[in-house]
Amino acid sequence: MTDHRGDPAPHSTADDRGHPPVVLVSNRGPISFSLDDAGRPEPRRGAGGLVSGLGPLVVDTPHAWIAAALGEGDRVAAADGMVEAEGFRVRTLAVDRSDFAAAYDVVCNATLWFVHHGLFEAARRPRLDRRWGQAWEAYRRVNRVFADAVAEDAPEGAVVLVQDYHLCLVASTLADLRPDLRCVHFSHTPFAGPDDFRALPDAAADELLAGMADHVACGFHSRRWAERFEASCAARGVTPPATFVSPLTSDPDDLTASAALDATAEAGRRLDEIVGDRRFLVRVDRIELSKNLLRGFWAFDELLEQHPEWRGNVVFGAFVYPSREGLVEYLAYRQEVETTVAELNERWGTDDWTPILSDMGDDYPRSVAALGRYDVLLVNPVRDGLNLVAKEGALLNQRDGAVVLSTEAGVYDELAATVEGVNPFDVSATAEAIDRALRMPADERRRRAAELRRLALGRTPGDWFDEQVQAALGRPGG
Ligand code: G6P
Repeated sequence: MTDHRGDPAPHSTADDRGHPPVVLVSNRGPISFSLDDAGRPEPRRGAGGLVSGLGPLVVDTPHAWIAAALGEGDRVAAADGMVEAEGFRVRTLAVDRSDFAAAYDVVCNATLWFVHHGLFEAARRPRLDRRWGQAWEAYRRVNRVFADAVAEDAPEGAVVLVQDYHLCLVASTLADLRPDLRCVHFSHTPFAGPDDFRALPDAAADELLAGMADHVACGFHSRRWAERFEASCAARGVTPPATFVSPLTSDPDDLTASAALDATAEAGRRLDEIVGDRRFLVRVDRIELSKNLLRGFWAFDELLEQHPEWRGNVVFGAFVYPSREGLVEYLAYRQEVETTVAELNERWGTDDWTPILSDMGDDYPRSVAALGRYDVLLVNPVRDGLNLVAKEGALLNQRDGAVVLSTEAGVYDELAATVEGVNPFDVSATAEAIDRALRMPADERRRRAAELRRLALGRTPGDWFDEQVQAALGRPGG
């Protein structure tokens, strides 16, 4: 696993799918670099749906990927410009540290993420003060650094695929610097409606929407989010660009390979020992406010209270792992999650039964093993752009497991007919949905699991990639 300086000269040939050259632009890239003993950057492929889905489509092609330098290794690697690493042509950008912190923590994570997911508790947040105004300036500068890098690296006439809320203003600068490029923006989040947008300063809201409108098209995982984007533009007098809906999907081959790893088999054996012949309720999530972990635990509590027959007979594997720990909201949430788990284990646990299994380490093989073994999968976000876990579960599960799915997840649009849909705010309804899923007769489970699998296989990551490129070429859905 060594990286080497790539040829920084732009390639201009198409890939074997017939696409023009593509430059992907995202805050978190496909590769992260750590430093070896001699202080040289060593590449490692990142985890996550986007990379595992797009990896096979992008590696060993002329396509390039530009992302922020997140850790120290990434910053050192940034000095080399565009490099070949793990088959990717990738460039990390060492943005000024304080600008990056202000843009990422204050604007992206503590504001835009909250706005798009409807997470603010309005009595205190957001606090749009002078510091916030300075952070917005930093957000502009970070977007400018990305735009300059794309302008330098993109081949003539390339398609530029800009990902997510971190980078809403890149296309506006590129329109001046490189009018030959065709930029598409894709949001992996939900999108804020006109009322949500009032939680931003008017000028910032206008600038953000105008920045998105400078793309040839804007894509979303669900029609709901596209409509909210259009409504927010209309409410602010911004003419929206073309929109398109293109849900991402997990790569079944990548998942199969992960399931076949020794580490996954070993994690599975450990789970078998702990769960034994009890029923297994599972969730796999970042420790993330929008994922609604607390109501999931409260629903489990109510299940045990209302249905005593499940006491001692079901284990809740909550495989949740830390995220965005620079934010006080996330640290406080993690604390609350830990306390809740401890309280419920104290309340219901017995000498030979720990109701909730959760150690909060990021252990991918264990998550894959758990998704292979669940009887019921709980996916209950308060709002979610898509949620790939529901599809990953459908593809990995070996036990005809049932899925309890929030109606507020974008993926609900695709899977509605085969899941137990729940209003994520309704703890009692969630408890009852888990109960129904646990009791579902074997033939019904089998029928639904087969249908879920069929739906999850209905699209490929290639479809998602192609649809973005088609949208850039002005042929949405083409
Ligand atoms: C969501 C966003 C991504 C982001 C990921 C992890 O899925 O849509 O853009 O990369 O969360 O968040 P992080 O802040 O750790 O990159």
